[in-house]
Amino acid sequence: MAPERENQETLSNLLREDRRFEPPVDLAAAANVTAEAYEEANRDRLAFWERAAERLTWAKRWDTTLDWQPPFAKWFVNGKLNVAYNCVDRHVEAGNGDKVAYYWEGEPEGDSRTITYADLQKEVSRAANALTELGVGKGDRVAIYMPMIPELPVSLLACARIGAIHSVVFGGFSATALKSRIDDADAKLVITADGGFRRGAPSALKPTVDEAVKDCPSVEHVLVVRRTGQEVDQTDKDVWWHDVVDRQSEEHIPEAHDAEAPLYILYTSGTTGKPKGILHTTGGYLTQSAWTHHAVFDLKPETDIYWCTADIGWVTGHSYIVYGPLANGATSIIYEGTPDTPHRGRFWEIIQKYRVTILYTAPTAIRTFMKWGDDIPAKFDLSSLRVLGSVGEPINPEAYVWYREHIGGSRTPVVDTWWQTETGAIMISPLPGVTAGKPGAAMKPLPGIVADVVDDQAQSVPNGGGGFLVVREPWPSMLRTIWGDDQRYIDTYWSRFKGFYFPGDGAKKDEDGDLWLLGRVDDVMLVSGHNISTTEVESALVSHPKVAEAAVVGATDPLTTQAIVSFVILRGAVDEGEDIAKELRDHVAKTLGPIAKPRQILIVPELPKTRSGKIMRRLLRDVAENRSIGDVTTLADSAVMNLIAAKLPSAA
Ligand code: WT7
Repeated sequence: MAPERENQETLSNLLREDRRFEPPVDLAAAANVTAEAYEEANRDRLAFWERAAERLTWAKRWDTTLDWQPPFAKWFVNGKLNVAYNCVDRHVEAGNGDKVAYYWEGEPEGDSRTITYADLQKEVSRAANALTELGVGKGDRVAIYMPMIPELPVSLLACARIGAIHSVVFGGFSATALKSRIDDADAKLVITADGGFRRGAPSALKPTVDEAVKDCPSVEHVLVVRRTGQEVDQTDKDVWWHDVVDRQSEEHIPEAHDAEAPLYILYTSGTTGKPKGILHTTGGYLTQSAWTHHAVFDLKPETDIYWCTADIGWVTGHSYIVYGPLANGATSIIYEGTPDTPHRGRFWEIIQKYRVTILYTAPTAIRTFMKWGDDIPAKFDLSSLRVLGSVGEPINPEAYVWYREHIGGSRTPVVDTWWQTETGAIMISPLPGVTAGKPGAAMKPLPGIVADVVDDQAQSVPNGGGGFLVVREPWPSMLRTIWGDDQRYIDTYWSRFKGFYFPGDGAKKDEDGDLWLLGRVDDVMLVSGHNISTTEVESALVSHPKVAEAAVVGATDPLTTQAIVSFVILRGAVDEGEDIAKELRDHVAKTLGPIAKPRQILIVPELPKTRSGKIMRRLLRDVAENRSIGDVTTLADSAVMNLIAAKLPSAA
């Protein structure tokens, strides 16, 4: 076939991506969870979650499974358990102390550690004893601001063990962001490090903590891990981890906590307003994070090597690096650094080194790898992989297919997992041994989850329709409230559709009733009376062979209410005289219809993203509407907006 023709065919395949990928036969035959789980949960949802809770070890069984006073839920009422015991000690007691909990891989090559469950038990016990010595007790808040080093999960587990509430603040946040989170939670202790390694160099954290803490009266101590050996200023609140933790007893008897005892607060910024302290509690959270990890990744603790590439500073890291995997007795990888240090094959090298079998990452990373080129992963042996996961934003079909082919060797199922900080654990996802996957679709609510797509009158839409995603019934790992602000909890999540949880996302049901997530509803554009999702236009753009990445916003337009403005990163150089903008506009028109044709295509070198990889459309809208650019403090790289502005003919 002529390459041109072949290209055309691949292209039209992707655009009408109607391929379905059946589960591999051997995986399906041995899968942890089969189609029966849906039926079981349909028959009796609460009994289903009780069985999931029974996978944990309870010091005292609950007497009521769910106490639902909308919108306030209590799960496993009067049950008692210790999260750290469930994640660590019980595996040691079961004779698995020598099993590896974490292969930790530092960014500097050769800097690695192997941590068994027995090691973890000792470290967590020492840290728990140290927290007690520092005056931290049950219900106290501990802010954690650390690089991706072993002391980070140890700190989370030590808090959980003594019933202190952790609040992890991502290590990339500024002193102002850190201070506002410390203040909101009235944290008594901050755990940090001198710094971490990032892009080949030590990157300091302690100065940011010093600046944040100088006006935080609630903070009594700052516990500092020495990681990089950088000079640090000493304040009278500082204590070194190696001075205080290392000399503690490696024995600590875990007390059982109430199923509804707070486990952690995690702040989510959203696009506007003061960050919301999302509160998660003990029994329900651990039940759902552990069960979903077992089901969605088909985790076999004896043989799998599991790697979630998120930062523990995000909910993905909380639920799928720390709590879910450890509760299941998994062996996981933790990697400290960036995917391009010291070279762009670092991830694939790590997979090859540890024979990783399950990989969980984000679409933004996948698109970056696509941009870097197929030849990079092709140099490594990735044949150990058997399940691939995606999370954080809609995965466009192009990226899904690339991930499956180039990373998964066209063998592995791809599970596109939809959830949020607020939901605590995965809600909508294929099951790798059950679902015939469709590229770009999160498919179905997991067993035990009742979600739907409704119109603005809260009526369920028919197959083929689109609207708002809602969750109709409470679930075990749901947020319990916003820390200190029940009213905001009600207003934000439970007021738009009476009686339903509204996550703020748009979604579509296809003809088979499968779900496609379309991103935040604030990202839906209104063009000449039509609702068009930014995700769909972005997917259409990325399906063009010359496009590496795209971001789309709706800009106010006198004729059409909003007009579509696209920011595009190209895969390579464009030949002179080529009208790439026209080519792309026509391509979108052909793919989605003329109504979705962008008014403007702007070729840019980078896109503004948050540290968690989400495109900050608010800033792009400022550009598209010729406004001065708003607050850039949560951008991963604040110079990006200057780069973009410099490229634009019209930008102010
Ligand atoms: C928002 C939540 C879940 C952990 C990481 C992000 C978007 C997340 C998907 C997906 C489409 C997704 C939603 C959601 N999102 N996963 N698979 N498909 N969109 O947690 O920072 O709380 O963000 O991320 O818009 O509401 P978060």
